Amino acid sequence: MKDELAACGFAVMDGEAVPEIAGRWGNPQAIVSRERDDSWSLSGTYGLEAFPWHTDGAISSRPPRWIVLRALSIPQTTHTELLDPDPSLLAGLRRTVLRAVDSTGRARHLPAAVPEEGRWRVRWDPRVCAPQIGLSLDEVDARAPTAIIEWREGRVVVLDNARLLHRRPAVLAGRVLERTYVWSE
Ligand SMILES: [Fe+2]
Repeated sequence: MKDELAACGFAVMDGEAVPEIAGRWGNPQAIVSRERDDSWSLSGTYGLEAFPWHTDGAISSRPPRWIVLRALSIPQTTHTELLDPDPSLLAGLRRTVLRAVDSTGRARHLPAAVPEEGRWRVRWDPRVCAPQIGLSLDEVDARAPTAIIEWREGRVVVLDNARLLHRRPAVLAGRVLERTYVWSE
């Protein structure tokens, strides 16, 4: 699994225990697809419609390094799309400045890609981080996925949230994924 994560930025496991990843583990949360509401979340904003490319915790000064997802209930065929930035996209992200606005309305300017421990950490979330300089939302939106993960119950997926962007197509209500964040120490 470690080799797969290093090579591709993600790993898919069926019928296995959640992998051991070094770092600080957050609490598992059940993420239930649902109609939009006024909550501070992607579901609150987009409801059951497709989510745009994003990284999780883009607003945070320390976003989680890894996202561990486990499919608890998959009422209909559905998938998650991944985007591993190629050199041209990465170059664009490096010169892009985001205006990040948190839930209290406080704004900061953050780069969309920063060097971190010999690799790049990407931030992207159109909901809370509008690009001011550099790439536009449309330029990133137009990017095709570099991998697609089909969901089935019990499947566990680990994503490198520093390297990959992810999104999902429109879904029906009732899809349940368990999500656990892991922070690098
Ligand atoms: Fe996400």
